[in-house]
Amino acid sequence: MPQPGELILLVSPKGKRYLHRTQEEGEIHTHDGVIDMCQIQAATYGGQVVSHLGRAYRVQKPTLYDLVKGVKRQTQIIYPKEIGYICMRLSIGPGMRIIEAGSGSGSLTIALSWFAGETGRVYTYEQRPEFKALCAKNLAWAGVGRNVEQHERDISEGFLQTGVDALFLDVRTPWDYLDQVAKAVKPGAPVGFLLPTTNQVSDLVAGLEQGPFAGVEIVEILLRRYKPVPERLRPEDRMVAHTGFLVFARCEEQGAAPIPAPERPPKERPEPMDTEPREDEEDSGLDGADDSALGEE
Ligand SMILES: C[S@@+](CC[C@H](N)C(=O)[O-])C[C@H]1O[C@@H](n2cnc3c(N)ncnc32)[C@H](O)[C@@H]1O
Repeated sequence: MPQPGELILLVSPKGKRYLHRTQEEGEIHTHDGVIDMCQIQAATYGGQVVSHLGRAYRVQKPTLYDLVKGVKRQTQIIYPKEIGYICMRLSIGPGMRIIEAGSGSGSLTIALSWFAGETGRVYTYEQRPEFKALCAKNLAWAGVGRNVEQHERDISEGFLQTGVDALFLDVRTPWDYLDQVAKAVKPGAPVGFLLPTTNQVSDLVAGLEQGPFAGVEIVEILLRRYKPVPERLRPEDRMVAHTGFLVFARCEEQGAAPIPAPERPPKERPEPMDTEPREDEEDSGLDGADDSALGEE
């Protein structure tokens, strides 16, 4: 049952989704009529409330997806489809220490705070005070942020932490800050970047090539929704064609010489297999991991 002050998601008969904060009293005005707050107080998650025009709205607990989509925006934000992959690539989880810049509207900050949990720490950097304040407001609105440290600072001056587990930059010219990135993360740490244009990706990759970075990956994530109509199942007519490019790399230990391979007797060549790999089989991306290789999605 929603408690006063909690955020709830109301889903209209046409599937439109609205976030509201519950109150002891009052009413919510919708396109389908007025819904009394006391109805919402009495509702259970998964249940329904009915407007004064008799239209039923479903009452749900917002997911992290709903929270990220619902932030008040004054900057371009990072969308859930990218955030999901970013968190996988940077291995964001309980207890992790993560740096991100710029905070902007805080959509990525909300997700980092959520996944890092009580034992983790998120250090978010923003040079403009109005966006630092907006990020703080959105964190509080979403009910997360107790593990977030906000810094109002131009990252060209460097980060105030060292040895962090992962770092993500969503700024216009990330190649200008690669020295600062390398000083802030643990050796071997994953780092990531979001850029809206391919020109910026080229500049960044050229910068990463100067080291100490390796294992550069460039991806774009396309999300295609389907109309949930069983007898005429097909994609929606429109889709968001472009949001941004993601670049990931590992920050290498600086000045460390490679460990030489131990000497081994030459290996006997195995008998060739009589089955050819299927043409549509994708590279697992895990070279040499034979029997434990994971297939890409
Ligand atoms: C696109 S927004 C970030 C949006 C954010 N990732 C989100 O999901 O809401 C870029 C932000 O980076 C900030 N920024 C740009 N250069 C910066 C720098 N050198 N130091 C700190 N912040 C910077 C900008 O002020 C802006 O708020």
